[in-house]
Amino acid sequence: MYGKGKILFGLAVFLGLVTFPFYSNLGKVGAVPEPSLNTPVINAMRDKECVESEEFMEAEHMQLLDDWRNMLVREGKKKYVNSKGKEFDISLQNTCLNCHSNKEQFCDRCHNYLAVKPYCWDCHFGPKETNWTKETDV
Ligand code: HEC
Ligand code: HEC
Ligand code: HEC
Repeated sequence: MYGKGKILFGLAVFLGLVTFPFYSNLGKVGAVPEPSLNTPVINAMRDKECVESEEFMEAEHMQLLDDWRNMLVREGKKKYVNSKGKEFDISLQNTCLNCHSNKEQFCDRCHNYLAVKPYCWDCHFGPKETNWTKETDV
């Protein structure tokens, strides 16, 4: 009996360790903190609207950024025209982060909670950072 108990105990510890990241993520999804919109540029806006609708941005911002990169790098386009016909400069730093200048309380807060780690900041610097070290001369 002693041997069997030890094995069961070991198994329980193993399962606990293996499933821990899963459970801790599950817990977090329900408790996503409100990403802060408190920035000077957004506060000064009359109609507080993103590039596209809030629902679209929440679900598709990664795809939109990917499209922007392709539009700029492959097609040489500098402007994005949104679904309402409004123009935006294609730039992660000068457009997205101009409004969302609180990257830590906005992008990072949400990503950290959901354990998503975009690698973009290796090259694209956020506000107040000046470490543009890679591929600056592309
Ligand atoms: C290895 C460096 C590197 C990484 C990592 C990287 N980029 Fe870029 N990205 C570039 C360079 C270089 C350009 C071209 C800039 C130019 O021509 O003005 C660019 C252009 C872009 C553009 C269009 C122009 C601009 O300045 O915003 C977008 C949008 C973009 N990248 C998004 C992303 C996203 C989103 C990620 C992460 C998922 C990412 N990039 C990761 C180097 C990188
Ligand atoms: C002109 C200012 C402005 C620009 C530029 C802008 N945003 Fe936004 N963004 C906002 C505002 C304001 C909201 C809140 C929208 C709402 O409540 O309808 C928002 C909402 C969002 C959301 C949803 C947040 C949530 O609570 O679910 C995401 C994600 C987002 N933006 C990402 C981006 C990305 C990525 C870019 C660049 C491609 C970008 N934004 C460019 C102002 C901006
Ligand atoms: C409301 C929460 C939220 C906010 C705010 C937010 N993101 Fe995200 N982001 C996500 C989620 C969730 C994913 C992962 C989606 C998936 O994997 O399908 C993601 C993924 C991404 C990715 C793709 C990463 C990858 O490796 O595939 C990029 C790039 C990105 N976000 C950029 C941004 C930027 C830039 C901002 C701030 C301007 C921002 N996000 C704000 C929730 C958010």
